[in-house]
Amino acid sequence: MDLYGKDLLTTQEWSKAELEIVLDLAAKMKRDRFSEKYANILKNKTFLMFFYNPSVRTRQSFECAATELGGHAQFLEPKAMRLKTATTAGETVEDAAKVMSRYAAGLGIRILEDQIGAYGEGDNLLREYAYWCDIPVISMAHDKYHPCQGLADIMGWSEWFGKGPGKGVDPEVLRGKKLLVIWGHGALARSWSSVQEALLIGSRFGMDVTLAYPEGYDLDPMVISQAKQNCVENGRTFVITHDMQEGYQGAHVVYSRHWMSPQAYQNGEFLKKQEIEKALQYPQWICDAEKMKLTDNAIFTHPMPIDRGHEVTDEVASGPRSCIYDVAENRLHVQKAIMALTMGGL
Ligand code: CP
Repeated sequence: MDLYGKDLLTTQEWSKAELEIVLDLAAKMKRDRFSEKYANILKNKTFLMFFYNPSVRTRQSFECAATELGGHAQFLEPKAMRLKTATTAGETVEDAAKVMSRYAAGLGIRILEDQIGAYGEGDNLLREYAYWCDIPVISMAHDKYHPCQGLADIMGWSEWFGKGPGKGVDPEVLRGKKLLVIWGHGALARSWSSVQEALLIGSRFGMDVTLAYPEGYDLDPMVISQAKQNCVENGRTFVITHDMQEGYQGAHVVYSRHWMSPQAYQNGEFLKKQEIEKALQYPQWICDAEKMKLTDNAIFTHPMPIDRGHEVTDEVASGPRSCIYDVAENRLHVQKAIMALTMGGL
């Protein structure tokens, strides 16, 4: 299967066979990390990274990934480039994309939260770049999706329910496991990208999915409809509940994360302060050891950065069933695999 030149905006737009190729290669690259056979895949090639928003994991893991493949990742702050966005004048996406395609092997973009004025603007921008670029465009988290995170999640959960971190990845072990994606109160007003990607990829790989949140925190209805359809196709269930106990009952993977409400964007503005004030009114929405007792010995997962004390207690986040650092590590391995396949022509 040839993935060379393919964009990755969400895992939902790749076939399951394509995702399995990424996961398989990521597992091999993890096991044999500094092997010579991977050291020159991106030799002399550059991956451009547009970060409209801050990052720890994504920037560092992509830079390390490019280094380990013999290439280079160039960090770019779009505000320093006079680029046109939905809210600012500047060079058109068409011109920028066509020029960058002459220089680089791939382009990554992160745009979400306060860098957009309405849900969907980030996704539109990535699709515009993907349309004009001759090189693959990879989402590094945008308002709708976070495909690299979704792949790292599935890899980490598969390792935990399989032979263990670093010992191979068989996503079939997740079939029939209950994934709980649950809202956590928090002070960060986060976009929907990570949780929506988790719902999509978890349902793709045959998990029973439960989504739990207080009234008023609905996600994108189109994404929910797609995740439900994925469950139907796998003969699995998709449940939405506002009852925390019901959510935790029998769960195998608990993903507690804050996300903003659908009212976060009004008249082209991101109402961060109001979102945080509203979210902090739900202190009971925190993942703690008592609630984890209702699960079927679930693992705790989170894409990070964690808002400890709001989304989850330290006891759970740093506890023996937490897979957060394995998942974070897997960002490196899945991104190496994605770059090798889409930019290196492996
Ligand atoms: N999970 C994730 O994308 O982390 P960063 O925001 O630190 O990149």
